[in-house]
Order: sequence, then structure tokens, then C-alpha cells
Amino acid sequence: MERCQRIIEHPLFRECMERIDRAEQTRIFCLHGLPHLLDTARMGYIFILERGLDIDKELFYAAALLHDTGRYNPIIEDHAEASAINAELIMPDCGFSERETQAAARAIRAHREDMAADMIGKILYEADKKSRMCFDCRAAAECYWEDEKRNMRLEV
Ligand SMILES: [Fe+2]
Ligand SMILES: [Fe+2]
Repeated sequence: MERCQRIIEHPLFRECMERIDRAEQTRIFCLHGLPHLLDTARMGYIFILERGLDIDKELFYAAALLHDTGRYNPIIEDHAEASAINAELIMPDCGFSERETQAAARAIRAHREDMAADMIGKILYEADKKSRMCFDCRAAAECYWEDEKRNMRLEV
């Protein structure tokens, strides 16, 4: 996991995490800091193992770790797009190939709605939602998520 270690130590990744943590200090809804990114990575990897999918662990972790880093980007409003751009900037510095970087960026661009064309994007979408504890959420009444997106059952 050496290359993913480099991601979490990357200056741009650190800057994004600080920005998210600052912006969400008083947020009552789901947070988007490192705990959420790692929950998504680990849950998605459990799905990959349980289903016997041929998706590289480090590549999936990279996509999951970066998928919300574009939140609160001061220039780009669409956080999926901003996060994909972050992946394109950060992953080559951490030793990922162009092919791997583009695979992660594609999955990240598609993660907000269920619109991924490839398996890594589908797993990222699913893990992102299922890692949320909607079944025990105090802000449920005010949350904008549609019922289909809410995770009401314990699966893994
Ligand atoms: Fe997101
Ligand atoms: Fe997310």
C-alpha cells in the first residue's frame, strides 16, 4: 500500500483534508473527511473480495481516498469533477500509471449518481452510500438524500 501511503501524505491531499475538516466543523449531516474516505475504501474492498472481482486493491483505495477531496473547492463547484482533477494531479506523483490514474478519475467523476460504466466506478458508488449509517442518523429528517440512496440496513 506504499502508493496509497504517499497519497495520504501528499501536500494537496493534506490541504483538501484540512479544508474539509474546517468547513464541516459544525455540520450535522454526513462528513467527508478521512474517516469517510477510508470507510468507503474498506467497504468497497470488502465487496471486491466477497464478489471475487478483478480490481486492484491499491487502485480502488486510491479512487476511494480521493473521491471527495474536491468538496469545498473554491473554484470548481462540482465536487466530483474537482475530486477527479485532484486524482489526476496527485496519483502520478504517488507512482500510479496514466492508465490507473484515468481509471480512478473516471470512477470519481461518476460517483455522485449511479452512472459509472465500469466496475470500479459501480463499487465506488455503492460503497460510498453503504458506508453511511443512515439507519442511525439524527439529521435524517432534514437530509436531502432520496430514500433509495439511504443505507438503512447493515450489510458488511
Ligand atoms: Fe461525493
Ligand atoms: Fe463520499
